[in-house]
Amino acid sequence: MEKSLQIIEQDALADLEKAVSRDDVDLLVTRYLGRKGALTTFLRNISKLPVGDRPSAGKDANALKIKLEEAFGDAGRRLEDQDTGGGIDVTLPGRPVIRGSLHPVTKISREIVAIFSRLGFDVVEGPEIETDYYNFEALNIPKYHPARDMQDTFYVSENIVLRTHTSPTQPRVMEKTAPPVRILAPGKVYRCDSDLTHTPMFHQAEGLMVDKNVSFGDLKGIITTFIHQLFDPDISVRFRPSFFPFTEPSAEVDIQCVMCRGKGCRICSRTGWLEVLGSGMVHPAVFENVGYDTEIYSGFAFGMGIERLAMLKYGIDDLRKFFENDMRFLRQF
Ligand code: PHE
Repeated sequence: MEKSLQIIEQDALADLEKAVSRDDVDLLVTRYLGRKGALTTFLRNISKLPVGDRPSAGKDANALKIKLEEAFGDAGRRLEDQDTGGGIDVTLPGRPVIRGSLHPVTKISREIVAIFSRLGFDVVEGPEIETDYYNFEALNIPKYHPARDMQDTFYVSENIVLRTHTSPTQPRVMEKTAPPVRILAPGKVYRCDSDLTHTPMFHQAEGLMVDKNVSFGDLKGIITTFIHQLFDPDISVRFRPSFFPFTEPSAEVDIQCVMCRGKGCRICSRTGWLEVLGSGMVHPAVFENVGYDTEIYSGFAFGMGIERLAMLKYGIDDLRKFFENDMRFLRQF
């Protein structure tokens, strides 16, 4: 006698309850759905039923087939996962997580900020798209003055420029704040320059300190402390007379070559010295532009090229490497 569909279903589900492994389930698939399986046999024999019973028997049998296929499939997958610990092969070696690192310019910027923070300087930022007034005029660089040639810029329109230095943050901050002022302003600057040692965009950090009785001695002390902390306490620092329209007197700061320790090498063009920043006492004209009383207040300012310092600190010989996004270079930091 042929088993009724109801019995096949009951048996199959009862058997499935007892299955404890993927192999058990595979046996059930054969037993019920295989070529000689109970349900397959039932389907094959439908033709032997009375004509009137055939359609509903076929329909029910096919529905049961789908139901069992699903039940067996689900149970098979679940038991297989159990066998292998949730589908994860815990014996496989781990896949490495690739971690990024900070860009050398970001790294050194943060170091510079950290040193000046310890010296009491607040960090501020100014806009990269600047007015002609703040970039030049407020800094005592009038229109048509030859000093403008020192820094050829990208003009957005007649009075809007990409800032050529971070110095415009000086008048911007002083306009809004009464002394004392002690700020450091890092950021991007732009110049119409492009060759081995110049990129059209680079980074600077501007420093400004204004108070009563600020002297050139304070400037020397702060800069020297900074260089010693960034490089090494044994490095010599020298101040060389220079010119900037917004400082008087002005000084260029050189450090003893960090590569050859002053003996003279290719990096320092055999001079033993490297120029690292511009500085000076804030020019009275700048104070007047922002409404500071030059009889009461004095101050100093300085500006440094961040890529230049990074090159010296990490021994990098080509400025353009910073911006080529070559992973072989960047991975080293
Ligand atoms: N802004 C000058 C430059 O970019 C550097 C500087 C800043 C010099 C502050 C003096 C004082 O060359």
